[in-house]
Amino acid sequence: MKAVVIESYGGKDQLVEKEVPAPVLGNKQVIIKSEATSINPIDWKLREGYLKNDMDWKFPIILGWDIAGVITETGSEVTDWHVGDKVFARPDTTRFGTYAEYVAVDDYLLAKKPENISYAAAASVPLAGLTAYQALFDHGKLEKGQTVLIQGGAGGVGTFAVQFAKAVGAKVITTASKKNHELLKKIGADETIDYHEENFAEKLSDIDLIFDTIGGDVQKESFKIAKKHTGRIVTIVGPADPDLSEKYDVALESIWLNPDGKQLQKIADWIEKRIVTPVIGASFPFSQQGLQDAHALSETHHAVGKIVITF
Ligand SMILES: NC(=O)c1ccc[n+]([C@@H]2O[C@H](COP(=O)([O-])OP(=O)(O)OC[C@H]3O[C@@H](n4cnc5c(N)ncnc54)[C@H](OP(=O)(O)O)[C@@H]3O)[C@@H](O)[C@H]2O)c1
Repeated sequence: MKAVVIESYGGKDQLVEKEVPAPVLGNKQVIIKSEATSINPIDWKLREGYLKNDMDWKFPIILGWDIAGVITETGSEVTDWHVGDKVFARPDTTRFGTYAEYVAVDDYLLAKKPENISYAAAASVPLAGLTAYQALFDHGKLEKGQTVLIQGGAGGVGTFAVQFAKAVGAKVITTASKKNHELLKKIGADETIDYHEENFAEKLSDIDLIFDTIGGDVQKESFKIAKKHTGRIVTIVGPADPDLSEKYDVALESIWLNPDGKQLQKIADWIEKRIVTPVIGASFPFSQQGLQDAHALSETHHAVGKIVITF
C-alpha cells in the first residue's frame, strides 16, 4: 500500500511517499481503508525528533493519528464492528500511523462516523476533539455557569474547546488574533481577546478554568487570573510549574490525551445534533507534496481550526 513515511528525523523534506507492507490485523482490531486523516502538531514535533526520548521507534515511521474511513476487515474477536462500517478514530500511538491507505485500529478506539459531515471533517475530530473534551471535563471539571478561558481558541484543539464549553453552558472567553474573532464568536465565544493588542492577565480575573493550549509565558500569566482556591489550569503543553500552583493556590494539571472510542462517540452525537461543527482551515491531498505542505502550514503556529488530508 501507499504511505508517506519518514526514514530519519528532520525537516518536512523527510516526508517521502513509499510502498510499504499492508498492516497486520490483530484479533481485537479492524483494518480501515482511509478516506481522510488530519495534521496535529505532534506530527511535526515527532518528525523533527523532539519526542524521540518518549517514542523511541524504529524507522520507517508512518506519522498521523487521526483517521476516518471504511472497515475492510475485522479481527477474530471483534463483535461490535463490521466490514463496510463508516468509522473514525484516534488510533493507538505507534509507528504505524495514518499517513497510509490502510490502518489497523483497536476496536475500543472506534466510533461511528457522524452521518452529516464529510470524511475529511470527521478525520479532523478524534485527536483534537478528545483532547479538548478531556481537558475541559475529565480534568477541568467545567460546569454550566462557570467561566472558562481558552488560550488559543482558533487552533485545532481550541475550536473544539470553544464549542464544547459553550455546549455545557459555560461562559467562554478566548484568546486569538483579531482576524479569527468573528469565527470564534460564531462558534460560541462570548468574549474574544486579541493577544497581540491586549494583555489578558490585566483584563480578566476570577476565572474558574483556564485551558492552556499555548504554554510558556501564557501559562505562567494565567495563574494571576484564576480564582484562588477553586480555580484550575489544565495545560496540554507542559511542563507545568508546581511552585506557581502553590504560590497562587490554583490547581494545575498537565495532561496527555487518552484515546477513547466511547468518548469519541459522545462527540459524534454532538456533531450529529449540530451542537458542534468541525472547523476546517485547510485541506491537502494525500501525497508526499500534500503532507509536506500541510506540515509547513501547521508549523506556522497560526493555522485556523484543523488541517485535513483527503485520500
Ligand atoms: N497533551 C496532549 O495530549 C496534546 C494533544 C493535542 C495537542 N497538544 C499540543 O497543544 C498545542 C495546540 O495544539 P493545536 O492542534 O490546537 O495547535 P494548532 O492548531 O497548530 O494551533 C494554532 C493556533 O494557535 C494560536 N496561537 C498561536 N499563538 C498564540 C498565542 N500566543 N495566544 C493565543 N493563540 C495563539 C493561533 O491563533 P492565531 O492565528 O489567531 O494567533 C492558531 O490558530 C500544540 O502544542 C500541540 O502539540 C497536546
